[in-house]
Amino acid sequence: ETVEWAAESYDMGGHDTYMHKEIAEQADAVDRVLRGRIDERFATVHLGGLNLDAREARSMRRVKILGCGSAYHAGMIGAQMIEELARVPADAEPASEFRYRNAVVDPDTLYIAVSQSGETYDTLAAVQELKRKGARVLGVVNVVGSAIARETDGGVYVHAGPEVCVVSTKCFTNTAVAFALLALHLGRIRDLSVADGKRIIEGLRRLPGQIDEIMRAEDDIKKLAQDYAEAKSMMFVGRVRGYPVAREASLKLKEVSYIHAEAYPASELKHGPLALIEPAVPTVAILPDDELLDKNRATLEEIKARSGKILAVAHQEQEKADHTILVPRNEVELDPVLMGIPLQLLAYHTALALGRDIDKPRNLAKSVTVE
Ligand code: G6P
Repeated sequence: ETVEWAAESYDMGGHDTYMHKEIAEQADAVDRVLRGRIDERFATVHLGGLNLDAREARSMRRVKILGCGSAYHAGMIGAQMIEELARVPADAEPASEFRYRNAVVDPDTLYIAVSQSGETYDTLAAVQELKRKGARVLGVVNVVGSAIARETDGGVYVHAGPEVCVVSTKCFTNTAVAFALLALHLGRIRDLSVADGKRIIEGLRRLPGQIDEIMRAEDDIKKLAQDYAEAKSMMFVGRVRGYPVAREASLKLKEVSYIHAEAYPASELKHGPLALIEPAVPTVAILPDDELLDKNRATLEEIKARSGKILAVAHQEQEKADHTILVPRNEVELDPVLMGIPLQLLAYHTALALGRDIDKPRNLAKSVTVE
């Protein structure tokens, strides 16, 4: 059983597919998730529906984020942001795994369920199980009034607007931004300085303009996609902030183009997957200008030595790569928000080149409301 959008009721606005429309409207969507929430005076954000007081925010000892598919990947980004900005140990896990392994429910952990639809059965069942055991559960949800939004104690709405294409794009990006807001809020209640709070706020404000800038590279990305569409399989690699981006980009490519893809932490390549590298298996490498840039460059050399083709997504031209897609610089903590966007375009144009049914890929549903 699946939830179907009444797709006809949303205008495509001159785009050929909902996926393209939804990729193209991300600057506006990000603007919406920020609107009315920034508090300059205290260098923080207001999250009206959070329902978590300062004492609770200070006393929690862990954060556990649960979701499925792209929501899980956005949760991985969220966990890193919460660790970095709020200095609370945080991690993300697929909601179904959490549910089936009879996880220990800890009273000092804040649980966060992530979902575009708010109706995914595995995520909802995890929420219900947690609530039954007395846990504090928040939601990071797009659809207002959905089941997960209703059953959680509070949360942050993602405000991406209706997403019609089965594969998530704008909601993924907005969810990552919603997590940045939550991380900033938690950080400023805990030990994040005013200066760092301001730095993140300024970074958040730059996002919509920078997304527009990325969109202007679409023609170049389209040309690359026509070339990469011939790949037998593709490898996606990144370290730390780049890793969830690699995971999501790999999922996006699989979903819409049906090209087999794998995502690995760049450091794990040498422990096995390097055996797959050959000219017909190109690698997409996420290389932000952060403290791991040199390590990531060394990975490119390892791939080149095996005659693998490389597409880099980076802040500066990468010598070892065959192609580089340049992404504008922001604050390092926000890199994952921007670095995924060109790879949505890559997946889209690859699928287009291969003549796929982009808005409704085979075997997939927008929302899986059964087990
Ligand atoms: C389905 C969709 C995915 C989505 C996942 C979670 O599998 O095909 O694109 O990421 O469900 O959906 P949710 O609505 O909970 O974010």
